[in-house]
Amino acid sequence: MRICVVGTGYVGLVTGACLASLGNTVICVDKDRRIVNSLNKAVIHFYEPGLKDLVEEKVAAKRLRFTSEIDDAVLRSDIIIVTVGTPPKKNGEADMSAVISVSKNIARIIKKYSKSIGDGYKVIVNKSTVPVGMGDIVEGIILEEGVDRNRFSVASNPEFLKEGSAVYDFMNPDRIVIGASDNRAFNKLAELYRPLNAHIIFTSIRSAEFIKYASNAFLATKVSFINEIAKICEKVGSDVTEVAQAMGLDKRIGKEYLKAGLGYGGSCLPKDVSALIHLARKFKIDPKVLEAVQTVNMDQRMYMINKVKSVLKDLRGKKIAVLGLSFKPETDDMREAPSIYIINGLKKLGARVLAYDPVSELKAKQKIKGVAFCRNIYESITDVDALIIASEWNEFRDLDLKKVKSKMKRPIIFDGRNIYDPNKLREMGFEYFGVGR
Ligand code: UDX
Repeated sequence: MRICVVGTGYVGLVTGACLASLGNTVICVDKDRRIVNSLNKAVIHFYEPGLKDLVEEKVAAKRLRFTSEIDDAVLRSDIIIVTVGTPPKKNGEADMSAVISVSKNIARIIKKYSKSIGDGYKVIVNKSTVPVGMGDIVEGIILEEGVDRNRFSVASNPEFLKEGSAVYDFMNPDRIVIGASDNRAFNKLAELYRPLNAHIIFTSIRSAEFIKYASNAFLATKVSFINEIAKICEKVGSDVTEVAQAMGLDKRIGKEYLKAGLGYGGSCLPKDVSALIHLARKFKIDPKVLEAVQTVNMDQRMYMINKVKSVLKDLRGKKIAVLGLSFKPETDDMREAPSIYIINGLKKLGARVLAYDPVSELKAKQKIKGVAFCRNIYESITDVDALIIASEWNEFRDLDLKKVKSKMKRPIIFDGRNIYDPNKLREMGFEYFGVGR
């Protein structure tokens, strides 16, 4: 099939490259010409494992190309997938201006070239996370432009990709949600995803839109829940990793997303919880659970700062290494990364911070100031009073702990992601502080 993907951010680029690898011809459109030029050379503006090779391969096979010319891309395509950003506004509401502007553009193009399209039919798919009801708004925009109702359908097809494993997630989805209001659109999208052999759920557009918010809010709830349990574990002498493992074996609970740590970050969970709170309030519903989820999440960062303070006492002049800056491993995404809050908190208390991350130094430098960025782990921990694991990159799990101990001034580890065995570290002479153990 011929596909146009509008917006070459994280979701758009992964979607475009993966659909190309399923045998479709894909044109990705972005208004930013610099991004388009570099993508045509397979230079990608963010780090995602496996994506560069896939883009290179599909560009060379002429299955995938990048352009700023939206008219031509829309005209050539049967399915137009909108993956532009929906960032949060100050009040938490999702900002829909990019989705609206792209929809107007698509409507204009279909109308303008309606003669050359003939009786062609296009499905306009919203993949961006949009508030419930946006599908109707997009349909209204297109009809208002005077496009014949038989020429198009609007559909919602939310993504559930995790940064760091997005290509794998696209190819191996737990489920695919297709929200539409007519069989033509359902059939077209079912055909698109047939090669994945996945469980497809057909719903109304409004349900599909809501499924995304409800899923992310539930994931955030699990994280905040286990973080609260972790705090209690610490007081009563239990180990949250043992508690979570046994809880997770109950099928009704599930073992994923029960890792206690420094709270959830990234581009999706924080913004989707905020948007859902905003939506609930709009309808005069008091979102008590969601508000608590948010509060617990923010507290989790303070909790780590307080823990460091309670052990090191006066932080003035103390040297502290923070390992792992991105919001989680296998990505260079710094959005809502707990490391930002923790480092700023430590600095405020007078500590000198040395920071290291395998891939996100460049992006971290834009968000965190007044910190010494180091080229490797051992440089960052030399002579420090403590080290904090802020995201759980594999290379931190495999550290030569004897060497670590010999380099540090004081062998104190704050394991914000519970990646080490507390007993082993204590036997080695470290002072070990995890989360909830
Ligand atoms: C998430 C959703 O998983 C995905 O379906 C959606 O499309 C986008 O948002 P992502 O933001 O890439 O994906 O990250 P994810 O791996 O889900 O983790 C989110 C945050 O929760 C991270 O900060 C992570 O560290 C934290 N987390 C996750 C925990 O603290 N504990 C856990 O057990 C799981």
